[in-house]
Amino acid sequence: MGRVICSLLGGGALIACATCAGRQPFAGPPSLVPRVTVTIADKSDDAAGKKLFRERIRPALKEHCYECHSAKSDELKGNLRLDSREGWLKGGDNGPAIVPGDVEKSFLLKTMSYREDDYKMPPRGKLDEELLGDFERWVKLGAQDDQ
Ligand code: HEC
Repeated sequence: MGRVICSLLGGGALIACATCAGRQPFAGPPSLVPRVTVTIADKSDDAAGKKLFRERIRPALKEHCYECHSAKSDELKGNLRLDSREGWLKGGDNGPAIVPGDVEKSFLLKTMSYREDDYKMPPRGKLDEELLGDFERWVKLGAQDDQ
């Protein structure tokens, strides 16, 4: 039981929890612990992800991607729309552009870091590292939109 309380209090910061001090690790039912921790983390990640989307991601998508990947594009490139969450989850010719929480499986991040020979996005020049870091963080937080 002590373990579960710890998860509720600390979201993983077990060291700070007095209830658990001195107890054997994983003394409680281990299957319960991660589930409790994850549920709580998800809520704050959601809010942080939305904030990041509003402040950094959407403006960048608008400026650097919509020209070729939105309803406004003269000709949609790669069958990929980046003007909705549905769009980046569904992805384009190569499948999903973003897998929420999974940086490695998110093709969009690879194209933006110029790691894919055939796909370097945006084509006219790599975005600055700080912005790329924001995109990575946003994917880790679940790639939320504003909804
Ligand atoms: C000037 C046009 C242009 C802009 C701007 C642009 N792209 Fe692209 N993008 C393309 C083209 C063309 C393709 C398809 C290449 C192909 O299929 O050979 C593509 C394909 C992609 C793909 C792969 C889609 C798939 O499944 O095949 C991703 C991911 C992508 N772009 C992300 C982005 C992101 C993110 C931005 C903004 C940071 C961006 N693009 C900006 C032209 C553009």
